[in-house]
Amino acid sequence: MFGIIGGTGLASIQELKVVKRELIRTPYGEPSQPLIFGTLSGKNVVFLARHGSGHTIPPHEINYRANIWALQSVGVAKIISVATVGVIDDKVKPGTICIPNQIIDYTYGRKNTYFDGAEMPVKHIDFTYPYDEPLRKVIINIAQSSLNTLIADGVYAAVQGPRLETAAEINRLEKDGVTIVGMTGMPEAVLAKELNMAYAAVCPVVNHAAGRGQSKDAISFSSINELCDNDVCRLMMTDVVKLIQEVVLKN
Ligand code: HPA
Repeated sequence: MFGIIGGTGLASIQELKVVKRELIRTPYGEPSQPLIFGTLSGKNVVFLARHGSGHTIPPHEINYRANIWALQSVGVAKIISVATVGVIDDKVKPGTICIPNQIIDYTYGRKNTYFDGAEMPVKHIDFTYPYDEPLRKVIINIAQSSLNTLIADGVYAAVQGPRLETAAEINRLEKDGVTIVGMTGMPEAVLAKELNMAYAAVCPVVNHAAGRGQSKDAISFSSINELCDNDVCRLMMTDVVKLIQEVVLKN
């Protein structure tokens, strides 16, 4: 069964026919909200808004371990994670969707493993390719025919937030080889990998990163606030939901 994790601008999916909501307790505490069970494209799916239903949980306070654990405990094997990002290349327009294939983790102080000796003994997992390639390919194939603008690979920088970056930090990330910048991609991806779940990210670009393109002087908050409250963003979320519907239908 697919699990869909929604982020900023996707706190719910209207097309989801909701069957029930259930608060799951995990050894790591409670997830961001009760899991929402329903059908999408006629298939059973589970939806979870990572910032909570009222978008009250900031990126560094999300209980990523509880979220991923809860999804697995109800039978989710594949996760499509939607997470908005800023883009470093100023030639890329907000409204583009990126399906990253790599991650650099700049976060700190987050509980980023299940294997911490408390519930499970220490174990090192392979994370060479952080996302599930077969799932990424499925998403890319569908996106290539349904979207006008797509970045089919890219390096996702997971930053701590909640503040945005300085222009110098973005210059450094560019030197590191980063394509897109967001605050929630880690430790979500690694926790899914630790539980052997297939995980891929769909990243709507909502702004140029600090000091770049339209964000040369400052980043406009209409794009990155909790509502993703502008036309580009709303249209993009419609595309994202259509993409997810197709992926769920064909798999
Ligand atoms: N930086 C970090 N996180 C983000 C951004 C950004 O520019 N846009 C959306 N999430």
